[in-house]
Amino acid sequence: MSDAVLAPAPNTTQPVKKLRVMSGTRTTGALHLGHYLGWLSNCLELQKKYECFFGVMDWHGMTSKYKETADINAWNRDIYAEMIAWGIDPQKNTVFVQSMIPEHIELFMIFANLTPMGWLERVPTWKDAEEEAKASDTHNLGRFMYPVLQAADIALYFGALVPVGGDQVSHLELTREIIRRFNFLYKAKLPEPKAMLSETPSFPGLDGRKMSKSYDNSILLSEDEKSLKKKVNSMLTDPARALRENPGNPEICTVYSYHKFFSADDDKKWAAEGCVTAGIGCGDCKAKLFGNLNEMLRIPREKKKELLNNPSLLDSIIAEGNEKARVVARKNIQIIKDYMKLGPKVK
Ligand code: TRP
Ligand code: SF4
Repeated sequence: MSDAVLAPAPNTTQPVKKLRVMSGTRTTGALHLGHYLGWLSNCLELQKKYECFFGVMDWHGMTSKYKETADINAWNRDIYAEMIAWGIDPQKNTVFVQSMIPEHIELFMIFANLTPMGWLERVPTWKDAEEEAKASDTHNLGRFMYPVLQAADIALYFGALVPVGGDQVSHLELTREIIRRFNFLYKAKLPEPKAMLSETPSFPGLDGRKMSKSYDNSILLSEDEKSLKKKVNSMLTDPARALRENPGNPEICTVYSYHKFFSADDDKKWAAEGCVTAGIGCGDCKAKLFGNLNEMLRIPREKKKELLNNPSLLDSIIAEGNEKARVVARKNIQIIKDYMKLGPKVK
C-alpha cells in the first residue's frame, strides 16, 4: 500500500505521498455498538497515523429517509457530536457534513455519466433489496445511484484507504471501477482506494441477528443507563439454562458474544466457566455485562450530551470542519476538471 501515489495536479510533478483516509457514515439514525466495532473503532485508530477525512453522509441518509428530512438534520448533529465524544479529533482530522460541500454532488454527476447502469444493477445492496425498496417507497434513482455518490465522496478527497464495514465491500469495488474508468478516459491519476475492513464484520444484535437499525435490535452508543440495563436483560441466553442449576453453552448465547467483545479476559473466563458449571446464573452474567458496557459508554455519553447542550459550540465546530473540507474539495474538483479539460479555471 505504501507505494500508492495520490493524484498530482495534471501539470505538476509533485505527487502527494502520504496516503489519505476517507470514510463516513450515512445518517439514518443514531450510531450503535455495531457502528463502533465495524467502523468507528477503526477510524479512532487510523487518525493516529493518517490524514483523515470523515463525512457525516446525509445525502446518503436521504436516499432512504427522504421523507424525514427534519430528522436527518438532527441526526447530522447527533452523529457529529457522537464521533467527537468518542475521540475523533476535529482539529487533527477533517470532519464534515456531506451536503454542506456541494462539490460532492458535482463529482457525483461527473461519475454518473461514466458509470454504466449495468454496473449499478449488479450491486448486491440494490439487486437483493429491490423488493424491500419497492415496499418501503425507496425504489428511487437516489438509492440506485448510492454507490456512485460514495465513489464521489472518496475521490473528492483523493482518499486511498477507506475503513468500512463488510456490507460496503461491493460499494468499494464499484468505486474502484469508476475511478479506473475515470483515470483511463482522462489520463488521470486518482488513487484507487482500498477498503479497510474491521475485524468484526458482523455483530449480533439483542436477538442474535446482525445489529441493525432496521431490525430494532441495537444498543446505541448513547444508550442511557436505564434502557441499557433493560436491553441487556432482554438478551437471548442458552435456553438450557432456564433452570439456574442446569449448565449451559456460552457459545450459543448472545450475552456471551457481547462479553467476548466488551469484557476483559478475566470476566470472559468467569462467564464461560460459570456457565458450563452452572456456577453463575444468567442474571449474574448479564449484570456483569451491563456493568462493563455501561462503564465503556459512560464518558462518551456525557461528552456527547455536553456538546448537544451547547449548540453554538457544536455549530462552530461543524462549521469549521465543513470549511476545512470545502477548501480541499474546491481545489480537488478543479484538478479533476482539469483532467477532463472541462470548464473555465476558477482563480
Ligand atoms: N455507505 C456508507 C455506509 O453505509 C457510508 C458512506 C457514504 C461512506 N460515503 C462514504 C463510507 C464514503 C466510506 C466512504 O455507512
Ligand atoms: Fe449466557 Fe451467561 Fe447465561 Fe451462560 S450464564 S447462558 S453465557 S447469560
